[in-house]
Amino acid sequence: MHKQLQTQVAIIGAGPSGLLLGQLLAKAGIDNIVIERQSKDYVLSRIRAGVLEQGTVNLLNQAGVGDRLHREGLVHHGFDIAFHHQHLRLDLEKLTSGKHVTVYGQTEVTKDLSEARQALDLPSFYEASEVKVLDLLTDAPNVQFIHEQQAYSIKADFIAGCDGYHGVCRASIPKESIQEFERVYPFGWLGILSDTPPVQEELIYGNHPDGFYLCSMRSPTRSRYYLQCTVDEDIAKWSDNRFWDTLQARLPSSIAGNLVRGPSIEKSIAPLRSFVAEPLRYGQMFLAGDAGHIVPPTGAKGLNLAASDIYYLSNAFIEYYVDHQQSSIDQYSEKALQRIWKAERFSWWLTNMLHHFPEKSRFDQRIQQAEFDYLCHSELAQKSLAENYVGLPY
Ligand code: APR
Ligand code: PHB
Repeated sequence: MHKQLQTQVAIIGAGPSGLLLGQLLAKAGIDNIVIERQSKDYVLSRIRAGVLEQGTVNLLNQAGVGDRLHREGLVHHGFDIAFHHQHLRLDLEKLTSGKHVTVYGQTEVTKDLSEARQALDLPSFYEASEVKVLDLLTDAPNVQFIHEQQAYSIKADFIAGCDGYHGVCRASIPKESIQEFERVYPFGWLGILSDTPPVQEELIYGNHPDGFYLCSMRSPTRSRYYLQCTVDEDIAKWSDNRFWDTLQARLPSSIAGNLVRGPSIEKSIAPLRSFVAEPLRYGQMFLAGDAGHIVPPTGAKGLNLAASDIYYLSNAFIEYYVDHQQSSIDQYSEKALQRIWKAERFSWWLTNMLHHFPEKSRFDQRIQQAEFDYLCHSELAQKSLAENYVGLPY
């Protein structure tokens, strides 16, 4: 027998998208239940990017989870691009008339949201299995799942599919009702986290003839570094020493001497993919965040795009329940996709400029070099990069 529950919005997935949506809806007095496949500890241990646009910070403030972010987040007014032996600093503050980004890990964002949800005692089911979304084309969609051996059935007005790239929501849409656009890159990123001071105060995105590298951080005492690797790279072959030696060899000589080595506390490989699903709606179910789109991590747009989706979707639900207006719900997919495609373009462009593409011809390599030279000598090109990096408006 199913235990029957009822809510206004059933949210599938307790990643940043689902938790942020739940928080914003709760603040507006809209009931919601979160259903998550994994345990809370598992969700809170995932390491992902860590650069927040101002729009994301504003939304986290609005959701009531801005305090720790303001205390511990690092405000960055610029970042570096190193290309072979050349070096360019993008002065975000100057190029965007005063904007900046905040370095604060996605893991911390998810933790803050999860604690805020718990403090409000909002209903959540972690470790839910056999999650199914049903009756999507009716006005009473249904979520069924098993939790602690009990079968549940939740009737909702709407379902928010915030269950990431491998989730059940997008997979439940009939093929003829959804289009998918995808580019898979012929490389991945090998990342390590270490309790060592960052090699410099600002991020460095680097293109070295042997491949891309990124120097990032989580705090003044915790670094996050990445190296371009092959898609089928064997992580077991990457000792900490090999990682540090390879990174040191790729860094500009003026900076390499500052690299502080230490044991890795996390090491993982992520594939690079661009992906968009259209539309982001099927009947009463809406897709948001990684469930609807993926960007390669170059430029750190993943979490920021999830936040802008949730901005549009939460406002649409609030308009529906508070102002009894349907129009924003109907416009959600189109509005969100306009911003998504621009971030897709930016992430694809930055990925192309900064990586070593094994199949690229000598002509392509010269074009890549010209792209960087143009950036170095054109303030307009730098402004365009900076405008996208700090986040397009929404
Ligand atoms: N049922 C319930 N939950 C599910 C299911 C399912 N069938 N499938 C997946 N999930 C959960 C996952 O376990 C995960 O916790 O949905 C959650 C989705 O979270 P994320 O993958 O973090 O996606 P999202 O919340 O949209 O966050 C986007 O994550 O990958 C990064 O770059 C991305 O920063 C961006 C952010
Ligand atoms: C990170 O700190 O993990 C990070 C930063 C910037 C990126 C991607 C990842 O573009």
